[in-house]
Parts: sequence; structure tokens; C-alpha cells
Amino acid sequence: MPAPLIAPSLLAADFARLADEAAAVAGSDWLHVDVMDAHFVPNLTLGLPVVESLLKASDIPLDCHLMIDNPGRWAPGYAEAGAYNVTIHAEATDDPVAVARDIRAAGAKAGLSVKPGTPIEPYLEILRDFDTLLVMSVEPGFGGQSFIPDVLDKARAVRRLVDAGELTLVVEIDGGINADTIEAAAEAGVDCFVAGSAVYGAADPAEAVHKLRERARE
Ligand code: DX5
Ligand code: ZN
Repeated sequence: MPAPLIAPSLLAADFARLADEAAAVAGSDWLHVDVMDAHFVPNLTLGLPVVESLLKASDIPLDCHLMIDNPGRWAPGYAEAGAYNVTIHAEATDDPVAVARDIRAAGAKAGLSVKPGTPIEPYLEILRDFDTLLVMSVEPGFGGQSFIPDVLDKARAVRRLVDAGELTLVVEIDGGINADTIEAAAEAGVDCFVAGSAVYGAADPAEAVHKLRERARE
């Protein structure tokens, strides 16, 4: 297994000081940006103009998690702007593969995300068209919720396919990840860990990232 990737989620940061908040986690692998449209999820955050500014303000690869309807209309724009990874929700489109192709053609890695209640089996065939699988371990929409351990079965199933050489994919998890929950996720074969409140709720966010990485390695 490669070294664990830690992706602090800016959802838990101070939105009036995003450049400083990105700088506070400079040693992170990816910076997770939650884009919400108040339709796919009952919350509204930020969109492409803010992501464009973040790309100028930070060198950390941006991991854009689009919790939006009609991702085919919007996702390629994030890739064109320079996001490293652009993840769409399986539940938000009838043709995730077409959106993945457009994201890749625009120069980014393509991610597929599934909500806690969405099974992974119907999507196993199309995962070869993606670079990242984002397993949601809370209902998307808000930070600070409790980790749902049942979703780890999905991570395990996909990990097996990756280890068998049938897929090349980063397995990412998002929601309720902290020093207590990260080990179970790492054991299930997760490569990349999103953490919002566990990083930005800490007195020292950089130290929190370091601690999470150490825990995931154990
Ligand atoms: C929730 C977002 C998450 C959120 C995680 O819909 O996708 O990225 O920021 O926050 P925590 O780590 O606090 O659960
Ligand atoms: Zn997220």
C-alpha cells in the first residue's frame, strides 16, 4: 500500500480566510473542497470562482467534491481551471462515465462518489473509467457528523479489486474521520482520508494532519 494521503476539508475552515487556512495545512497531500448546490444536498457552499482563487493561493493539489445536480454541466470547468481531482456523485447523473471522460479530457483525475446508502456493486464495472472512488461515511451536506462504519465494506470490496490488479484507483473516504476512526478505514484498505473538523477544529491543524497520517500508517 502506498503512503496514506490526508486531505483536509476546507468545509470546516474559516471561509473568510481560505488562503490562510490552506497554508495552515501546507504538508497535506490533497486539499478537499466541498462544492454544494442546495439541490443535491441541503446546503450551499462555494463554486468555481472560489476554486479558481484557491488555485492561485495554494500549491496543494485540489480535490473538488461536487455535491451537485447535473455534474456533467459543471465538472469539466473545475478540471479546466486546474483542480487535481474532480469527483462527482453517482446518484447525480445517469451517465457518470461520460462525465469522467470529460473531466479527464479537461486535464484532471476523475472521481466517483457514493452516498452511505448507495451500493457499490452496480458501479464496479465503470470504476475503470475513474481514478478515485470516494466512499461517503456520512450523509453528504454537513461536516461534524459521526462516522458510519458499515460503508467500509464498500472500501474493502474495491480494495480487493485494486489489489488483484483489476482496477487502478485511489480509495478515498469522507466523513467523520478522526484519530479514533481512521484506523478502521485504513484497515479496510482506504488510501486517502478526508478530514474536516478533526483538522480545522484542532488547535494546530498541521499537527492534526501529521497525527492522522501516523495513525493511518499503524
Ligand atoms: C460532507 C463533506 C465532507 C465534510 C467532512 O458532506 O463532503 O468533506 O467536510 O467533514 P468532517 O470531517 O467534519 O466529517
Ligand atoms: Zn467532501
